[in-house]
Amino acid sequence: MMKASAQTHPNIALIKYWGRNPNFPSHLNIPTNDSISMTKETIHSDKSNIELLTHTTIEFSEHYEDDEGFLKTETDLIPFNEFQMKRIKKVVDPLRRLAQTVLKFKMVSENKFPTAAGLASSASAFAALTTATSKALKLDLSQKVLSTFARLGSGSAARSIHGGFVRWHKGDSHETSYAEQICACNEFDIAAVIAVIDRGEKAVSSDVGINYAHSSAFNPVRITESQKQAKKITKAILNDDFPTVGKIAEKSCLYMHSVMMTSEPPLFYWNPGTLSVIKSIINKRKNEETEFYFTVDAGPNVHCFCRMEDLDLAHTMLRDMGIPERNLVRVRQAEQGSKVVEQHLF
Ligand code: ADP
Ligand code: DP6
Repeated sequence: MMKASAQTHPNIALIKYWGRNPNFPSHLNIPTNDSISMTKETIHSDKSNIELLTHTTIEFSEHYEDDEGFLKTETDLIPFNEFQMKRIKKVVDPLRRLAQTVLKFKMVSENKFPTAAGLASSASAFAALTTATSKALKLDLSQKVLSTFARLGSGSAARSIHGGFVRWHKGDSHETSYAEQICACNEFDIAAVIAVIDRGEKAVSSDVGINYAHSSAFNPVRITESQKQAKKITKAILNDDFPTVGKIAEKSCLYMHSVMMTSEPPLFYWNPGTLSVIKSIINKRKNEETEFYFTVDAGPNVHCFCRMEDLDLAHTMLRDMGIPERNLVRVRQAEQGSKVVEQHLF
């Protein structure tokens, strides 16, 4: 049977990826800079009903006349549209070629959290798809090689192959643009509360918005600084130096959003709630010397980083700002990014 399933956690970038290197074909998703992330899972004591996990099943068979894919929601099975299928095949086609098969596939995937809302569904989705496809096709690929194939679906997916803290090397070819773990779970004490400001789909997906990065005059500065930040933050993570990690992560986030806001067309992923949470985090740090730091991806939702022992404090601060409990997600590092599982979705 050529059928397999995988489960994968999304990741949150501390050093952001925002731009493909124009010297390489764009379908390879070779980035302009290294990026660093934490693979994250939900701590199940919260009331958000959001589990940061994607579950994907894929089967290759002569019974399928065409490739087909479906997004499973609580109530429906929604076929992926043409554009989404094209993206799925960016991962499946090269793996199918490697396995020397022309068999068609059926794929079903479920995100246990909002899709396309800035919570990195594309990261966990394409890492899960890569892991499941490679298993179904009986390819015996290392995690490093899997990360290069996941990258073809979505850049940030390369990082979700691994658990803990992960660095995606920009590289200069398909093979050298891979992700590797830099620090296993529990070696660096960090947790976060995500303030979900909006669960809805963002107006401009990362896949599209990222193409505008080069039109910002600030982009060259962001690229140069990102390489320096990646070096410094790696050292700080390995030294368990939380304030340095937090400050660099905030800088990287602000550099990325500065590029977004000054690109053509300009992209404003924040909304007023985003800025309120950012200001509260900064004020709390200033007035009470609390070690809280923020980051925001391509969406309005804010991650408030803290030490594990301060999770309740961060949660209370965000709740007291009026963010409903169901929109507060407590997260920690996930030990494993992507793994093969026995449960199939069909
Ligand atoms: P996010 O912030 O959630 O990553 P993006 O706009 O970057 O948002 O990515 C959303 C896109 O990723 C979707 O439009 C779809 O193409 C793809 N995607 C999301 N979830 C899945 C899934 N489970 N399986 C396959 N593709 C998915
Ligand atoms: C803001 O990986 O979603 O989350 O490669 O086009 O799919 P594509 O982009 P994607 O971009 C992620 C951007 C980010 C920052 C990050 O995760 O590094």
